[in-house]
Amino acid sequence: MDYLQINGGRKLSGSVTISGAKNAALPIIAATILSDKEVTLTNMPNVVDIRTLLKLLTMLGGTVAHENTVAHINNGTITSTKAVYEIVSQMRASILVLGPLLARFGECEVSLPGGCAIGQRPIDLHLKALESMGAKIEIKGGYVHAMAPNGLKGAKIIFDKITVGGTENIVMAAALAKGTTTIVNAAKEPEVVQLCEMIADAGVKIEGIGTNELSIEGTDGKPLSFKTVDIIPDRIEAGTYLCAGAITNSSITLNKVDHGHIRASIDKLESMGCTFDLKEDSITIYPAKELKPVNLITIEYPGFPTDMQAQFMAVAVMAEGESLIEERLFENRFMHVSELNRLGADIWLKGSTAAVKGVEKLYGADVMATDLRASSALVLAALVAEGTTNVRRIYHLDRGYDDLEGKLAALGADIVRKSGK
Ligand code: UD1
Repeated sequence: MDYLQINGGRKLSGSVTISGAKNAALPIIAATILSDKEVTLTNMPNVVDIRTLLKLLTMLGGTVAHENTVAHINNGTITSTKAVYEIVSQMRASILVLGPLLARFGECEVSLPGGCAIGQRPIDLHLKALESMGAKIEIKGGYVHAMAPNGLKGAKIIFDKITVGGTENIVMAAALAKGTTTIVNAAKEPEVVQLCEMIADAGVKIEGIGTNELSIEGTDGKPLSFKTVDIIPDRIEAGTYLCAGAITNSSITLNKVDHGHIRASIDKLESMGCTFDLKEDSITIYPAKELKPVNLITIEYPGFPTDMQAQFMAVAVMAEGESLIEERLFENRFMHVSELNRLGADIWLKGSTAAVKGVEKLYGADVMATDLRASSALVLAALVAEGTTNVRRIYHLDRGYDDLEGKLAALGADIVRKSGK
């Protein structure tokens, strides 16, 4: 199993280009199921999760040509509507094929994703919403079997909780339903917005894009013809590199970013003393003279993203004073705490809040990655830890960060991928 070996203490400099957003590309790949013609996607990140979902499409009979950052997908050739456990268990986001498969084929089976390292992550809200649209749903043998032989019908859906994947699944289902679907308490993350824009560009009338209330007029079963989609920049990857600048006390420039999408991270880093120079699609971070502590609460967009919580905790470890970090979205998203403490951090957990006392120094050690973003927090901490840190189980990182070690090495970090235990 590969691991990352990092010798801490190097300053970073130069620039890094941000890849396309994994979390935008995944629902967009799923949405191609709504079409029976070829769709081209550009600026795709080179990460395992993307390859996993593309593999799922080929297992369903879709035709996929994928090289570097471009994918040509033709789902006119789909012959199966069963998303098997082998794939869904590797990546929960495979559940995103549920809405489009059901809407286009009137029937599908998708393996239940089960729990994951950061919490239970149920899909009850996805299923309840599809039922309101006339689907009949049975759970059998670990699979969700969804049926709507006469097509889905528009409905008014009020989500009990804001759910990104749930909103995406229902937007896709609603695009081919009969009549209008209204989603109240919809997610409005930039990734949801890009999905809505892709579907609206294909001629589906969608009102309220970027707000908490969406209204979608379906095509009554007629498949869509999509224009080429250029995936938006990854706001979590961008935020992670800003944290790399902040924690190593370095000035670095990020190219190909959308500042609007990373406002929450910029604001928090500003409150910690960092400063920024914003250009049209690039941003330069200048380090704080003295890193101040931060208080933050994870919440839905445009609030502070849960996917940046672990990385900010790593930065807070090096601040002068005590930071408070509250996780509101996932009940178990603190697996990085004990690993950061192995590097010498001083973090105490009480319920959903972590109290982080800044320390003078971290010391290299062997640590284990537990989920995608927790892993990047360990890499950030390792960049400043004295001596050598080995970050193990980096298959988590490979799921969502495009060439993390290559990009950090190009910025001057001493980081190499090694194989072995
Ligand atoms: C997406 C992102 C993930 C991010 C999360 C929150 C992708 C591929 N993943 O995950 O990186 O951390 O948004 O911004 O885009 N919930 C239910 N029932 C449901 C659905 C969700 O109770 O049916 C709960 C979840 O357990 C969680 C909260 O709602 O507590 C938000 O989850 P959700 O927004 O659905 O996250 P994902 O779409 O899975």
